[in-house]
Amino acid sequence: MTSLRQPQNVLVTGGCGFIGSAFVRFLLTQPAFTGRVVNLDLLTYAANPDNVGSASASPRYLFVQADITDAAAVTQVCSQRAVDTIVHFAAESHVDRSIVGPGAFVQANIVGTYQLLEVVRSLPSIHFHHVSTDEVYGSLGATGLFSETTPYDPSSPYSASKAASDHLVRAYARTYGLSTTLSNCSNNYGPYQFPEKLIPLMIMNLCEGKPLPVYGTGANVRDWLYVDDHVEAIWTIVLRGRRGETYNIGGEAEWANLALLHKLIEVVARATGLDTAALKRQITFVTDRPGHDARYAINCSKLKSELGWTQRHNIESGLLETVRWYLDNPEWVSRVKSGAYRNWLDLNYGRRD
Ligand code: NAD
Ligand code: TYD
Repeated sequence: MTSLRQPQNVLVTGGCGFIGSAFVRFLLTQPAFTGRVVNLDLLTYAANPDNVGSASASPRYLFVQADITDAAAVTQVCSQRAVDTIVHFAAESHVDRSIVGPGAFVQANIVGTYQLLEVVRSLPSIHFHHVSTDEVYGSLGATGLFSETTPYDPSSPYSASKAASDHLVRAYARTYGLSTTLSNCSNNYGPYQFPEKLIPLMIMNLCEGKPLPVYGTGANVRDWLYVDDHVEAIWTIVLRGRRGETYNIGGEAEWANLALLHKLIEVVARATGLDTAALKRQITFVTDRPGHDARYAINCSKLKSELGWTQRHNIESGLLETVRWYLDNPEWVSRVKSGAYRNWLDLNYGRRD
């Protein structure tokens, strides 16, 4: 299939976070992409400039520390670097944090996306890809799947802020004729994920003999996608997605949290030689998250049939690669556990158990 677009100078927002850094690493190793990548990131607690790895040594890579709400700074970078494509990852991304402090989510996710859209309105040759979440659709019951036409019904300040940003993207496309694409993806996991999210938190606590905090009864279901499959889907949409369209991206791998944790325990036990029964005794049921969505599951048949994308990882291979990465990168782990992460855990989870 031929490309609709041929990006040369790509601005990645949030490229020092979990998924954005995977996208930067992916892009700079694509033989067909010979252009440049500008990574614009504010470097919040969730960011780490080292996450881009050897990509940072490429002469085709540039890092700029800036806030997406600073339209003047973003405009300057776009003009100076002849940016033709923005892939927008930057966001506050953790539901529990949004419950404790929603203001940062309104600012980064809504105002930040608005300011980026204003930049594109003033430089309308730029194509804008917006990275969003399946959480905008709210919660499913026992059956059914989210499709691109499922009505929005967000439950948390995080998902509400992402929903608002999605609406702004579509409104700017219709009103001002901007060239946009949008993707809504299910839960990601993989290397470099900040250990406030379920899978890396559990891997670390398993290895350190700490309690494994399961919210409620652990019956909530998530659809898990390996991060490299997500970034490949995004690049496919950037190259060939129809202007103005939305594509759902999912793992087609539904797991209840407790069942996933049992699976993860098996993988960690095999990789470390630790005793499975002893690891299971670390499971601790804690107070449920307020407004906790019961089930997410994605129908990604549009992306598969229109653009030919498919997942390359299943949960077995994905969890194994993830666990190995955390075991093989103790320096990254110890760095991330200092500072903001420690303070956050002490402040918000110390009282839950
Ligand atoms: P993350 O929290 O790991 O990284 C976010 C990055 O954005 C950080 O590097 C941070 O410094 C940067 N950032 C935050 N505010 C900024 C600002 N005002 N200006 C510039 N940079 C800023 O997040 P992630 O998990 O990599 O998620 C990336 C995107 O993907 C988000 O938009 C999120 O909503 C979406 N998403 C995430 C998942 C998931 O499972 N993690 C699933 C679907 C969609
Ligand atoms: P999380 O990784 O925070 O992603 P999201 O809330 O965006 O889906 O959580 C995934 C699931 O795991 C969610 O149902 C909440 C649950 N969870 C726990 O049970 N314990 C934990 O310590 C965390 C962080 C999450």
